[in-house]
Amino acid sequence: AASPRVEALIGRMTIEEKAGQLSCYSDMIRPPVGDINPLVNQRNTEQILADIRAGRVGVLMNGVGVEGALRAQTAAVEQSRLKIPLLFAADVIHGFKTVYPIPLAEAASFDPDLAERTARAAALEASSYGNHWTFAPMVDVARDQRWGRGAEGSGEDVFLGEVMAQARVRGFQGRDLTAPDSLLSTAKHFAAYGAVSAGLDYNTVDISEETLREVHLPPFKAAFDAGCLAVMSAFNDINGVPATANRHLLTDILRGEWNFKGVVISDYTADQELVAHGYAADDKDAARLAILAGVDISMQSGLYSRYLPELVAQGLVPMAAVDNAVRRVLGLKEALGLFDRPYRSIDAKAQAANTATPAMRALSREAGARSIVLLRNDGGLLPLPSRGKRIALIGPFADDRDNILGPWAFFGDKSLGVDLATGIREAMADPSQLTIARGCDVENAIPGGYDQAVAAARAADLVLLAVGESQNMSGEAQSRTEIGLPRVQQQLAELVGAVGKPTVVLLRHGRALVLEGAVKAAPAVLATWFLGTETGHAVADVLFGKVNPSARLPVSFPHESGQEPYTYNHRTTGRPAPQADDSQEYKARWRTTRNEALYPFGHGLSYTSFALSDVRLSTARLAWNDKLSITVTVANTGRVAGEHVVQLYVRDRVASRTRPVRELKRFVRVALKPGERRDVRFSLERGSLMFVGDNDRWIAEPGMFDLWVANSAVDGLAASFELLGA
Ligand code: IFM
Repeated sequence: AASPRVEALIGRMTIEEKAGQLSCYSDMIRPPVGDINPLVNQRNTEQILADIRAGRVGVLMNGVGVEGALRAQTAAVEQSRLKIPLLFAADVIHGFKTVYPIPLAEAASFDPDLAERTARAAALEASSYGNHWTFAPMVDVARDQRWGRGAEGSGEDVFLGEVMAQARVRGFQGRDLTAPDSLLSTAKHFAAYGAVSAGLDYNTVDISEETLREVHLPPFKAAFDAGCLAVMSAFNDINGVPATANRHLLTDILRGEWNFKGVVISDYTADQELVAHGYAADDKDAARLAILAGVDISMQSGLYSRYLPELVAQGLVPMAAVDNAVRRVLGLKEALGLFDRPYRSIDAKAQAANTATPAMRALSREAGARSIVLLRNDGGLLPLPSRGKRIALIGPFADDRDNILGPWAFFGDKSLGVDLATGIREAMADPSQLTIARGCDVENAIPGGYDQAVAAARAADLVLLAVGESQNMSGEAQSRTEIGLPRVQQQLAELVGAVGKPTVVLLRHGRALVLEGAVKAAPAVLATWFLGTETGHAVADVLFGKVNPSARLPVSFPHESGQEPYTYNHRTTGRPAPQADDSQEYKARWRTTRNEALYPFGHGLSYTSFALSDVRLSTARLAWNDKLSITVTVANTGRVAGEHVVQLYVRDRVASRTRPVRELKRFVRVALKPGERRDVRFSLERGSLMFVGDNDRWIAEPGMFDLWVANSAVDGLAASFELLGA
């Protein structure tokens, strides 16, 4: 049972009012895109206000501004029969008005503290616009770079995904859910959305229960352990059962095994899509299947309002199932303090004071610079001197302001965005030494563009080539078959490359890319993702050495698109690819491409150099209930201060299931001055050596384990230890 207040309300509610509390709709009172057609907008507003007064709405989503929020909340708490407050939800994925790096970029920082700080700042800004709830973090593990939604997550690794999920939950929610600046978080999309076949968004998922539990579920569990109180059911099916009708997932695992107390909301019309899946006979059947599986709130389809009353009347859905869902939704509203303070985040002064503050912009800049990965830096081309060089900034992103914020930033204030040209110019002692030439658009040629670009390169001492994806090439529904540069940009790179000037490639992207020709061969390459509002400043900070890059790839960059789905922590095979001898044909190898990545997971360079040495294990024989500590010495062997991400990988040598060739288990950031050295220590226990065995149970097995203290997923100092039996 919930609180007496909630139980008393449930006792008074009609089935229509109960269905209303379980329904979430787009906020037509204050749509983020504004009044496209004022008349239509007014009609929509009146309709939704009437629905709120009639008790037919529990949650509004993706509205902007306190004025509209005030109208809606007033209708709910002063003009409806039961006076139940509304919840305002929004897709605050990587910022609100001020935009931070896309989550994939931020994962590259390998810095959970940073992720927590940007989530906190986003919560402060978004809650000041009347929001209580964000549909973030996305915690889907993405192992196929063709899938566009990897941009919203933390990449291909489970452990990194867990750490980042927890940091974001802490950041969004803050310490006190009832505080006006707290944003309730949502772990999404439950589950295995990142495993859609062929990387095609919304596609079917066919995976083993072991892979589901070992790879795709842990970041959700981690988010809940950090206090996340909402989860969104995914669009996809898993082994033939759509996630939004999946009782095994939504009830047996979520409630039964994990004791999750929060709410389950469907993705946008995902309940209605059970019909298109061929899993529900019609809309009414879809509503029945969703609620019985464990979906508490129906997003946007309206199916619960339309069908729950008759489903209950006909005995097809027990009233107890509806009551349980209502209990959870009202319990959440109570946990957020909304019954006592329904207007808690609706404050015009807070909205004005908490929009794009200098602190938010500084954080966006810091986060941007800390998310940039230095992939290559031959001959120490970077950092650049701020004076004495004529620079040609070439490419479709040179002075582009439409592709700064990245996907899923529709609340973002585009006018605040700093493009590359602006940021770089500000960092140069003599800005007149910078020439801009777009060369081509993202996917189309422009008349005379190539000639201008080549002329600019000829006249310069150095070329900055800004190429990659537009922001609508990743994100929802943006699956690609080839993950390289659009053809026109590759051609631009070849023409400019032929001029022969030292070239720094500035990649813009929402996924790992395949690099070819002049781009692959350029002496310096930076992965700059979509960095948000302060893009130009953040890139300039790294280019000119104000910030020493320290990020690491959260996704492997393959040599070719055909290697996807590609992940560093694949299982071994009976015929592993030969390391050096290409003549061995009957091996798990590609005919014309090497198996390894061009740039592996965990890779990232610095303007200084680091050396790892002297790995020490506290014991070579780890007792069943004991802890193993692993110590390594890290030294800054270069000439400038820097931060190094030391990574710990493990492999179970022999087990009752084939195990990945390596798995990330720990990482730590160390800041070192030139010449400084420090010991860092990791601790491992049996819990980190477990996998899913028979009967879907997590088990550890005694035996030998290899470990690597490493700079990336493919190098490192090796050691081994034995896990002793119980
Ligand atoms: O939160 C999103 C989800 O990630 C994709 N479909 C729409 C939802 C609400 O906007």
